[in-house]
Amino acid sequence: MLDERVRVVLERLEGEDASERERGLPPEQRSRQVEPTTGRFLFSLVAPQTDCEVLELGGSRGYSSIWLAAGVRHLGGRVLSLEHDPAKIEAWRRNVEEAGLTEWAELVEGDAFEQLARIDDVFDVVFLDAEKDDYEELFWLAREKVEPGALIVADNVLSHPDPLAQYSAARQADPSLLSVTVPLDRGLELTVVLR
Ligand SMILES: C[S@@+](CC[C@H](N)C(=O)[O-])C[C@H]1O[C@@H](n2cnc3c(N)ncnc32)[C@H](O)[C@@H]1O
Repeated sequence: MLDERVRVVLERLEGEDASERERGLPPEQRSRQVEPTTGRFLFSLVAPQTDCEVLELGGSRGYSSIWLAAGVRHLGGRVLSLEHDPAKIEAWRRNVEEAGLTEWAELVEGDAFEQLARIDDVFDVVFLDAEKDDYEELFWLAREKVEPGALIVADNVLSHPDPLAQYSAARQADPSLLSVTVPLDRGLELTVVLR
């Protein structure tokens, strides 16, 4: 079972997300967070890796960041999350702090396109969960931050076939990558960089 502080924050965020959807709030006012099963999946991808460095594009209020940070806490590592919306940034900081994960998760404030150019680190796992029309460009920027063996995970590839079917097809056709669509929740494209 997850530690109590983490569990309490995740459950609260799940409740808030459900309530915002029920009230029909527009997407920009909602967290647009991943499903709990996707959170567990992300946790499972990073927890077995030693010193796992994770880059997250689209941190929102911290729901997926908390799953990832709870995962890397096991064998060491860090989550660097990028977010540009001031209200989401404030909530992200509060939620990660409340979950007791500030040692394992860090937020970079600002536009991913600008901020990525300033980041020199090399990552083992990238979680791509920003605006769908930006995935292609963000993939190529993220690819500059990884080495062979790294994993790039993109959410929503089945819930948003337009434009993301093309994203998956391009990854699967690229001989320098090994890519598979995992039909979990909104659909995840898992892409391993081979060379
Ligand atoms: C789908 S939500 C992310 C949900 C989050 N991964 C979770 O599961 O909790 C997308 C987020 O990406 C942010 N975003 C979109 N484009 C961005 C950009 N270019 N730079 C930084 N953040 C961006 C949005 O403000 C939004 O909060």
